[in-house]
Formats: sequence, structure tokens, C-alpha cells
Amino acid sequence: MQNHSIRVGIASMGLHLPPLALKVTDLARLRGVEPDKYTLGLGLQDMALCPPDYTVVELATEAAKRALSRWQGKLSDIGLIAVGTESAIDMSRPLSAWVADKLGLKGAVRSYEVKHACYGGTLAVRQALEWKLANPQQAKAALVIATDIALYTENDPGEPTQGAGAVAMIIDEPLIAAIEPKSYAWSEPAFDFWRPLGEAYPRVDGAFSQACYQRAATECFKALIAEDESEKILAELSALCFHVPFPKMVKKAFSQVVQHFGWNEQKIAEFYKTRVEPTMSWNRYSGNAYTASLWIAVANTLRGLTVGEKIAAFSYGSGFGSELLLLKAGPMAHLGEWAKDIEQDMAQRIYIDEHEYLQLRKDIVSPH
Ligand code: CAA
Repeated sequence: MQNHSIRVGIASMGLHLPPLALKVTDLARLRGVEPDKYTLGLGLQDMALCPPDYTVVELATEAAKRALSRWQGKLSDIGLIAVGTESAIDMSRPLSAWVADKLGLKGAVRSYEVKHACYGGTLAVRQALEWKLANPQQAKAALVIATDIALYTENDPGEPTQGAGAVAMIIDEPLIAAIEPKSYAWSEPAFDFWRPLGEAYPRVDGAFSQACYQRAATECFKALIAEDESEKILAELSALCFHVPFPKMVKKAFSQVVQHFGWNEQKIAEFYKTRVEPTMSWNRYSGNAYTASLWIAVANTLRGLTVGEKIAAFSYGSGFGSELLLLKAGPMAHLGEWAKDIEQDMAQRIYIDEHEYLQLRKDIVSPH
């Protein structure tokens, strides 16, 4: 990381998982699939689900309220709200307007929605960071939210990876984490996962999307490591966080990346076990929350880090675009106050069974 005191980063965080969940083993029973395929083969546990009247607006607003409640600033200190999502509820009106309405946020505020499949939340973070850095006199902070509801067609191979959630961050003083201004992007036009207008569920070429993701991760890490040799720069990182469509996908992508740098199986296994796999413990209970997935992993990882510990965050969005970010833990990371959001939501959520899941799908007029 460049040696300069980074003035901007994550000042506060709030997370939110919806009120329902389904165990993937119950879905396996419904679909006549060996449960181990979902739990061991894909690395899944639960999928978070929204009741019919619970949309990305509720997810995003609750996460934002939690982030604001922990921040020493006031709502009037927010000068930008950006919501990253691919679960838009309108093709013109930005999701940020619905959230701002619920929060009572208006006035001298830039408000917009960012779309790029699962990468949209990271783009919103980067834009807020660059907005702050471009305006050193900017006293106001940015409210950034990544939120999605991921539902596939019934019986789609991606169905077990479904999920939902929201992560809200106040981008201002780097109290929880500083974000390195320099990042490493890679994009290639591809139809790996897309959702044509008017279609409720995505079309996905699962195997191809994994190949795209692996290529993107390799290119981004090559760009980072080009400035230094892999052992040194990766050894400096306490953890590597990835966008988590499902945990096995991350494991394969990480392995692909470091094989490019000549790592042997033992070194790969050790590093994965200690610095990659632990980042995903919350993702196993949210499922794929698209734009929020990476930031759920980052939030999980930042808690407990001591000041100055560095982590990487690899963001991927189908279509595809990707970007590798570097973060450095701030003085409040070790408090991990936002963990109580996940603990509370998981303690309170209701687990439905496979029959209730089928009925829920019928009751959801449109998942977005
Ligand atoms: N016990 C243990 N393991 C088993 C098993 C059993 N009984 N049965 C199967 N498995 C293993 C298989 O060996 C395989 O593991 P490996 O990949 O390590 O070999 C794994 O379970 C999956 O088995 P299959 O490949 O047979 O499963 P599938 O073909 O039904 O579907 C998939 C796999 C293609 C990944 C499918 O789950 C899928 O399409 N998922 C969604 C794809 C996805 O999320 N892509 C990312 C883009 S979406 C996104 O997040 C980005 C964005 O911008 C939206």
C-alpha cells in the first residue's frame, strides 16, 4: 500500500438480513438433491429470504439506520447517498430516493443508484471515496448502501445460492477502515449472468460465470502484485475478502489466483484456511446478496482487526466488471459493533421449510 496517511474510509457500518431463512438442506430435500452437494459441494448453509412485502427498500433503510445510529455525525452531515443494487424497483427513479424518503434525507445531497450486477455496491464505495478525495474541503460525508435480493428461477442450478441482505457504510473519517485510493480494475463484456428487462429472474451460465470470475480475480491480483512479489504483498494482508456468490466459488478463484504465482497446494490450503475461508462465515447464512456479498465479508473480517492491519477486497459483477481494493483497519475496527446486527437478525429470523418456501415464491409478485 502507498505510504501516505489515508484520510478517507469507512466511518460507520450497519448490516441487515431479512426476516426469513431457508436451510439449503431443506431445499435439497425439495429438489431431490444430495444435501452434501449444497453444503460441501457449494459451501452453503442457509439462504436469507424476504417476505412478500419486504423489499430492498426495507433492507437498505434498516442497514442505513444502523450505520447512522453508530456514527457521531448527523443526517444533515450527509452530502451524498449512493445505493448499489441490481434489484432496482424502478427503471427511472433511483433506489436512493426511496431510502432517502424513509430516512428523511433531502436538501444539498447528491442521490443516485449504481448498477453493475454484484459490483454496484463497490462502485458506489469508490465513487464516494473519490468524491471525498476530490473535495478536500468537503465536510460532508457519504452514505453508501449495497443491497440485493437474489432469487433464481425454480430448479435453476443457482437456486441454492439465493440470498438477500444490505450493508450500509458512512464514507468519511477512516475510523473503521481506510480505503486505499489506488485500486485495480478489470472488465470484459460477457454474458455470464444477466437479467433482461421484464424478466424477474436472471439468466446465468454458471460454469462460464465462474471462469469469468476467476479470470477477473487473476488479472486484478496480477496488477496489484506486479508492483511487488506475491509472497511479500499477500503476506502483508491479514485477509482476502471476495465477492461470495457461494463459498466454493471463492475457494476455486483464490486457488486459481495464487497458482498463477506458482504457489503449491500446501501453501494454497494454509493461506485459504487462515485468511480467506474465515471471511465468509456470515455469507454462509445470508446466501448470495449480490452487491452486499463482498461487504458482508469485509464487515465480518474488519471486526477484531487491530489498527493498521491490511486486507484486500475483490469485487466482481457479471457482465463483467471487477475491482480489487485495499483497506487498512482503523481505531474502531476492533470494536466490531456491527456484528450485533447479524447476531440480532439471525436470532430473530424465522426459518421456513421447503413447502413454505414454495408458497413464498408464489406470494412474491415480483422479487424486485
Ligand atoms: N457431495 C459433495 N459434493 C458434491 C456432491 C455430493 N453429493 N454432489 C456434487 N458435489 C459437488 C461437485 O463436485 C461440485 O464441486 P466442484 O465444483 O468442487 O467439483 C459442486 O458440488 C457443484 O456440483 P455441480 O457442478 O454438479 O453443480 P451444478 O452444475 O448443479 O451447479 C453451479 C453448480 C453451476 C455453480 C450452480 O450452482 C450455479 O450456476 N450457481 C450460480 C452461479 C453463480 O453464482 N455465478 C456467479 C455469478 S452471479 C454473481 O454473484 C455475480 C453477479 O454479478 C450477480
